[in-house]
Amino acid sequence: MNEIESYNQAKKIVEEYNQEHLLEFYERLSKEKQNELLKQIHEIDFKQIQDLYETVIKKANTSQDDVIEPIAYIDKAKIEPEEKKRLQDIGIEKIKQKKLAVVTMAGGQGTRLGHNGPKGTYELFPEKSLFSILCETLKEACKKYSTIIPWYIMTSEENYEDTIRFFEKNNYFEYSKNEICFFKQGKLPMINKQGKVILEEQWKIKQASDGNGSIFISLLKNGIIEDMKEKGIEWIFIGGVDNCLVQMVDALFIGLSEEKHVLASAKSLVKANPKEKVGVFCKKNGKPSVIEYSEIPEQLAEARDENGELIYGESHIICNMFHINLIEKEGWKNLKYHAALKKSNYINSKGENVEATEPNSYKFESFIFDMFERVDNMLIMRVKREEEFAPVKNKEGADSPETARKLYLNKNRKTETL
Ligand code: UD1
Repeated sequence: MNEIESYNQAKKIVEEYNQEHLLEFYERLSKEKQNELLKQIHEIDFKQIQDLYETVIKKANTSQDDVIEPIAYIDKAKIEPEEKKRLQDIGIEKIKQKKLAVVTMAGGQGTRLGHNGPKGTYELFPEKSLFSILCETLKEACKKYSTIIPWYIMTSEENYEDTIRFFEKNNYFEYSKNEICFFKQGKLPMINKQGKVILEEQWKIKQASDGNGSIFISLLKNGIIEDMKEKGIEWIFIGGVDNCLVQMVDALFIGLSEEKHVLASAKSLVKANPKEKVGVFCKKNGKPSVIEYSEIPEQLAEARDENGELIYGESHIICNMFHINLIEKEGWKNLKYHAALKKSNYINSKGENVEATEPNSYKFESFIFDMFERVDNMLIMRVKREEEFAPVKNKEGADSPETARKLYLNKNRKTETL
């Protein structure tokens, strides 16, 4: 397609979807930037954006009639030692047969943390980044089970290069380089309250990562699932980058998942208080589900049973495991999108850069846990917070480096004295 054709086609697209403003400054741009802008317009699925505006924004909060119920879980602490050993042995066998792959979702930036760069590069201790801590845990597991576990790292457009550079600089933390694979997640344009796609430069459409639920389609699109199949992988553990206690290789978890014949599993822990910023497990219309902290109605968050326990208190901690067959079958179908109103600078109709003073534009994200609704049954295994959850999210206060460091050191002290 020559330049004129490319422009004409782009013009047709923006007209069809009422996004003509995107070409407003076209004539003022250099050739290079003109092409860059046309390329973006051709790549974006404007139909999808229009649908998202209609369905997610305009009709938000209309599905009030979902039936929400508590969901069953297995408490790891209550499994009898003999039974635990039997299940662990099943898991160990799988790990030794190289049936497990580990995926770390590291598409997020450390914005909330005030860290400039990929979140995994944040140093929790001097010269000890989140990536290096995760890698240490993996190396220990490989040593314990005399195996090598393939490690896949999901990055975003924004941090792909920086992440790889960081690993190279750190000599892949002495993990086998051939067993680490980086891939990119998708992105979606941001729109304003009127449904108009916003520009961050006169030639650049504002796009943002499309949420950690894009993990499934990204694993498929990037050929990772194929690669895993060739390796004979059956179970895929998917964890976040910001939990420095994440246990990615857990024989009991695998053994239980096998035993229960499920295709999806998750670890949970008791929610600390109704306001804690964690998603909670439930059954939604009979299917396993998670209600995210940003979406849970107060009355559900606060509901307690006769013993005073939170009814919706099993927290999602992004320690999830999926059978490869489930991802192969369901991963191509987009998960639903959630919209978040964000503060975002933009180019106005005069071509000036406007600094946003209040939330003004929507970001669309899919959530990893929405995959759970695609199965009838899943395993939820309750674990102990002090053993498996020390997230690094905020600069200060709850879930901050300070709280995570404390939990990390406590756990390691305990392990050393065992
Ligand atoms: C997340 C969970 C929440 C859980 C909490 C526990 C989701 C949607 N929410 O919330 O249910 O209780 O952690 O700590 O999973 N990421 C990407 N790409 C993206 C967005 C995120 O890779 O586009 C990764 C991040 O790098 C991180 C993880 O997903 O590893 C969680 O993302 P974050 O935005 O920090 O989620 P929370 O809001 O804390």
